Amino acid sequence: MSRKLLLEHDHVPGINTYAVYRQMNGYASVEKALKSMTPETVLEEVKKSGLRGRGGAGFPTGLKWSFLAKPPGVARYLVCNADESEPGTFKDRYLMERIPHLLIEGMITSSFSLGARTSYIYIRGEYYYVANILEKAIEEAYANGWLGENILGSGFSHDMHVQIGAGAYICGEETALLESLEGKRGNPRIKPPFPAIAGAWGCPTVVNNVETIAAVVPIINEGGEAYSKIGIGKSTGTKLISASGHINKPGVYEIDLGLPVEEFIYSDQYCGGIKGGRTLKAVVAGGSSVPILPAELILKTAKGEPRLMSYESLGDGGFLTGTMLGSGGFIVMDDTTSIVKNLYTFARFYHHESCGQCSPCREGTGWMEKILHKILDGHGTLADVDLLWDIQGKIEGKTICPLGEAAAWPVAAAIRHFRAEFEEYVTNPQSIKDVKHYYRLHNLQPA
Ligand SMILES: Cc1cc2nc3c(=O)[nH]c(=O)nc-3n(C[C@H](O)[C@H](O)[C@H](O)COP(=O)(O)O)c2cc1C
Repeated sequence: MSRKLLLEHDHVPGINTYAVYRQMNGYASVEKALKSMTPETVLEEVKKSGLRGRGGAGFPTGLKWSFLAKPPGVARYLVCNADESEPGTFKDRYLMERIPHLLIEGMITSSFSLGARTSYIYIRGEYYYVANILEKAIEEAYANGWLGENILGSGFSHDMHVQIGAGAYICGEETALLESLEGKRGNPRIKPPFPAIAGAWGCPTVVNNVETIAAVVPIINEGGEAYSKIGIGKSTGTKLISASGHINKPGVYEIDLGLPVEEFIYSDQYCGGIKGGRTLKAVVAGGSSVPILPAELILKTAKGEPRLMSYESLGDGGFLTGTMLGSGGFIVMDDTTSIVKNLYTFARFYHHESCGQCSPCREGTGWMEKILHKILDGHGTLADVDLLWDIQGKIEGKTICPLGEAAAWPVAAAIRHFRAEFEEYVTNPQSIKDVKHYYRLHNLQPA
């Protein structure tokens, strides 16, 4: 049975309000940090916890914070990445919608450690109603003395703002987010310099995911060491997983890292098995950008060991036989799923969302979409499958930001593991049985 550190109170009626949140020991981490800790000791606890960024890359949070430049007289910022546009990922929305004060508490405690006088929550445009929930909670936090001047008489003052994006996937990339926050077009910046040196308005900035910042609350309340004992190896703590697709119980689950994938899919405590008792075909384990794995490789590694929900175990085998934990967007596909059609849906998304700054991504995503469209329309050739493979390889590693990889990896993995399905579509177009139905469903015109 997994512990719940973030979602412990998510079903308590009224937990979205300050009064109920406070009754459940809310804001204790701010009290503890401001009254009995220093910015440095808060950082030490975060380092000890082994917490890794929950936005996708899994970078150690304490290490990231320790990179923050501190030139005297220069403002520092904490920016919360609440863009959450990765297809298959909806855990940050769940957390913000249900327990907005948990994020705000984490923002204050983290800002105290970072020496940030001001913080921002950058939230995707489609989540405008969640932005309203956050605004209301921030108002309550001001009214109760957790934000503003000289909080708890500690000498630490802090202001928090919510900034709504305009609905662009690229604005989840941290430097594009900062551009957008500054009121510009959300084009990723060339790194270095990293945001820790030159971030928002050129000032040192830490950008962290919603879940990462919320996790600082239990880390400070219970201690970094206690947190580090949950999980497995370098995958410490709990993780929110957005589970969707052909499962009996889609939803957001908080799991201990290290839980076997098989248990996550089949246990009634989590996904509750495959819908209609059908057979598992494939899983995209960490949001649309990570490599898809066929059933046999998601349940067991190539070495035959049970695959676990952890950064290391999901990554075991590299991209040849493994994948990534990513953002925890866990998309389950049964044996009725067409991998080619699924890939086409992803490819359309990446083409639409490419910012267009780098030619390999701008042009490559368009070509991948076109070729998949051609295959699905029954006009593909074996050479098209090779061309797809070639194009994805020409995007990966050749762009300013990792959107290029995010678009290329799903194509590479689908061809690597399901090449026979592509070949069947191009050699026997009749096999695309429901293609007309598919076009109607998605309001598309055949090529
Ligand atoms: C195209 C693209 C989209 C991204 N979208 C998000 C997002 O929606 N939310 C998020 O937290 N990180 C996203 N990231 C990762 C961020 O750039 C960054 O690594 C993250 O916010 C750091 O926070 P963390 O260390 O707490 O994970 C995205 C990255 C790329 C390349």
